[in-house]
Order: sequence, then structure tokens, then C-alpha cells
Amino acid sequence: MLSNSLVRSAFGASRSRVGGLSCRVRVSASLTAPTQNQWQGFNCRHSLESKRWISVYGYTQAKALVYSRYGEPKDVLQLHKHSISAPHGTQVNLRLLAAPLNPADVNQIQGVYPSKPPFETSLGTQAPCAVAGNEGAFEVIATGSHVTSLSKGDWVVMKQTGRGTWRTHAQMDESQLIRIENKEGLTPLQISTVSVNPVTAYRMIKDFCDWDWMRAGEEWLVQNGANSGVGRATIQLAREWGIKTLNVVRERKTPEETEKLKQELRDLGATAVVTEAELLSGEFKNLVHDLTRKGREPIRLALNCVGGKSATALAKTLAPGSRLVTYGAMSKQPVALPSGLLIFKDLAFHGFWVSKWGDKNPQLKENTINDVLQLTRTGKFKDIPVEELKWRWDTECAELVGGVQETLSGFRSGKGLLRYEAEE
Ligand SMILES: NC(=O)c1ccc[n+]([C@@H]2O[C@H](COP(=O)([O-])OP(=O)(O)OC[C@H]3O[C@@H](n4cnc5c(N)ncnc54)[C@H](OP(=O)(O)O)[C@@H]3O)[C@@H](O)[C@H]2O)c1
Repeated sequence: MLSNSLVRSAFGASRSRVGGLSCRVRVSASLTAPTQNQWQGFNCRHSLESKRWISVYGYTQAKALVYSRYGEPKDVLQLHKHSISAPHGTQVNLRLLAAPLNPADVNQIQGVYPSKPPFETSLGTQAPCAVAGNEGAFEVIATGSHVTSLSKGDWVVMKQTGRGTWRTHAQMDESQLIRIENKEGLTPLQISTVSVNPVTAYRMIKDFCDWDWMRAGEEWLVQNGANSGVGRATIQLAREWGIKTLNVVRERKTPEETEKLKQELRDLGATAVVTEAELLSGEFKNLVHDLTRKGREPIRLALNCVGGKSATALAKTLAPGSRLVTYGAMSKQPVALPSGLLIFKDLAFHGFWVSKWGDKNPQLKENTINDVLQLTRTGKFKDIPVEELKWRWDTECAELVGGVQETLSGFRSGKGLLRYEAEE
């Protein structure tokens, strides 16, 4: 048995009442030297490390990536160790399976995203903090005595964004969670990335255009950022619903790499793929004319996550009475629109934010998730490419934070994905 002082120091900044427990299932502690890796410059404290354990009283150790001020992830994210009590009443204890690193997550840490989770001290941090991350897949590891909708072993996602998903373990009320019905045939990657990007694509296609279903295969949508998570979801959902897609991507370093990317998207179901340069060229109008059979197949919806000239060029392709929906601003350029498009073509311009939509339509959000997962099960909705970052109990803070910092670096081979490898 370790002395109380050693046990206490193994908990770091966690609640001291846990450190005082004298009965342990498994405890080990060792000093971990800082590694000389590429992330060493980041603002992470190296502290006395310990193995994870669960006490006989049901307390479990957890780690979370937290921030107590806004800034670049490398400057403000900390790995905080704390303890979680056994769940009471309708509480549920969760273990992380996987969580993506989305652009909005980084914007939130930078303080430039409209939704800002409250800074709190409930995890025992000295300064009030928020847990980073907005979506992820978790496994239920324990339930309170009044939980009715969930059981140990179930997989869940959060009902709302902003709850903090970059954490090894969490305690939530069952009302905050959506149970994945029939997780058979699904992977943590698929479930952890279903509730933001595919839902955004699904709702924008369904809710902003009154498609003429009698003309399946004769109507189009156009989108930029087509290689993004939302873009890939849009391509596949549109294909399933008989809508043709004209997709814009950024050029790669070589023509071969660009062609490879275009082919990848065509394999997903994209009807046509062009680069940003092709979109802005003088030839583009003729290409659209040919693709749409001289306008007989109207482009009725534009989805914009880039802004600037790219958004303007999308708008110009639209048939009269169509809509452009802006849902992102990757180029950080404003959307500028020629007045003629508003006056003479009667185009309408909208914005969409899935967080706000989901809060207003919780049941519809759950139904949308289930629809996408059903397509996934049947092989009609493919996984997004990811760069997996394994999170083991003893993974260095700097390694995790380095992965987060790369999220907005651009031209990546895949979206960053935290994959927790539990030892218990
Ligand atoms: N409003 C909403 O409810 C909502 C929901 C989900 C996502 N979003 C937004 O949608 C956008 C995409 O998110 P995601 O998670 O799908 O992205 P993602 O999978 O992480 O991919 C990011 C995409 O952005 C592109 N990109 C990066 N910088 C760019 C630039 N300067 N110009 C043009 N394209 C650029 C990248 O192009 P390459 O492939 O060429 O690298 C990549 O395709 C983000 O702005 C995000 O905040 C909004």
C-alpha cells in the first residue's frame, strides 16, 4: 500500500477527498521524465504521472484537455487530471472512444467562436476552465440507480455541442445523451463524427431547397470546401437523394495529386469536381453551361464554407430563385455579392449553424443521426479520412496539444481524431 502522501501526489490537482481514500483496487505511481519531442515548446506542465485506477468506492481517475483563457491551443490547453465519483440518480459515467478535432473546436479555444462554454471549477482546477471539444463517441461504464434509458456498454453521443468531449472520462446526466441504437457494424470513428458535419450537410440539403423529386438526377447543388467533412457528407447524401453535385476543392501541389483528390470525390459520388482556380477562370461559365445541359438542369442550391471570391463565383452559377447557404468561413474573407444577383435573379442568402438548429430540434437531430448511421451500416456513407492521435493514459499533454494545434494548418491528409485506448 502506498503512503497517503504518495497517493495524493499521484492525483495531482484532483479533489483532495479522493486522495484520502485508503482502500485501492490498483495503484502505481512513477516519475515520468519530460520527453524531448517536437511538442516540448508547448505550454504543458510535466507532472508526477500515475496509472489510472478505480477505487472500490467507485471513484475513477480521468484526464481532460481544458482551457481557462482564450488563445492558441498550444498556449492555453492543459491536461488536467481529476476524479469522478460513482454515478448517482440519473447520472452516467462515460469513457471516451473517439473525438474529432474540428475547425470550430479550435476557434472556440481561440475565443473567436460565437458559443463559449462557461468556465467552471467543477473539475477541481485552480482557475475556472472549460473542457475542449464539441463532439465525440463515449461508452457507458456505470449508471446511477435512476437511469432508465442507458446501460453499461451502450455507446452514446452528446445531445448538444459545447459539453466538452476531449476527455478520457465524463459524468453526464442521461438526459444530455443520445444512445446509439444498434451499434453493431459501426465504429467509434463513425459515431464520433456523425453529429456535426453529416447533420449539417443533411439539414442544409433538405431544409433550404424545395427539390423537385420528380426530377431526380436533373437538379444540382454546387459547393466549395468539397473535401471537408461537411463536403464529403454532402456529396454522398446528394448522391443518395438523386441530386447532382458540382464540387470545388483547393489545388494540390502537383496536377497528379489534384487529380487523385478529384477522383476520390468522384468515387464518393461527386458528379463533377473542379479546383478553386478553375472556378474563378473565364472558362467556368462554359463548363457549367455544358454540365447543366444549357441550364435545363438547374443548380438550385449553393453551400459555402470558404467565403470571398469563391462564394461569389458559386452564387453566379445558381438558377433564378435559388439559395446560397453559408456555414463556414475558411478563407476568413467576407461574402461579397453582386447586386444584380439579388435584383434580377431573386437569389436568397442564408446562414446555417447546426448547434443552434440542434438545440431547437433535438428529436429531429436524433432522427438525422440515425438516418446517417443507417446509411453508414449499409456501406453507403464512407468514413472520412483521419489522422488518428492515440490517447493512452500516459500520453504526454504536449503530444495531444500538438495534434490540436495542427487542426487549422491546412492541406492535411485527414481530420485529426483523438482515439482513447483505455487500459481498464
Ligand atoms: N455552421 C455549422 O453548423 C457548421 C458545422 C460543421 C462545420 N462547419 C464549418 O464548415 C467548415 C468545414 O468544417 P469541417 O469540419 O467539415 O472541415 P474539415 O473536415 O476539418 O476540413 C477543412 C476543410 O477546409 C478547407 N480549407 C481550409 N482552409 C481553406 C481556405 N483558406 N480556403 C478554402 N478551403 C480551405 C480544407 O481544404 P483542403 O481539403 O484543400 O485542405 C478542408 O477541406 C469549417 O469552416 C467549419 O467551421 C460549420
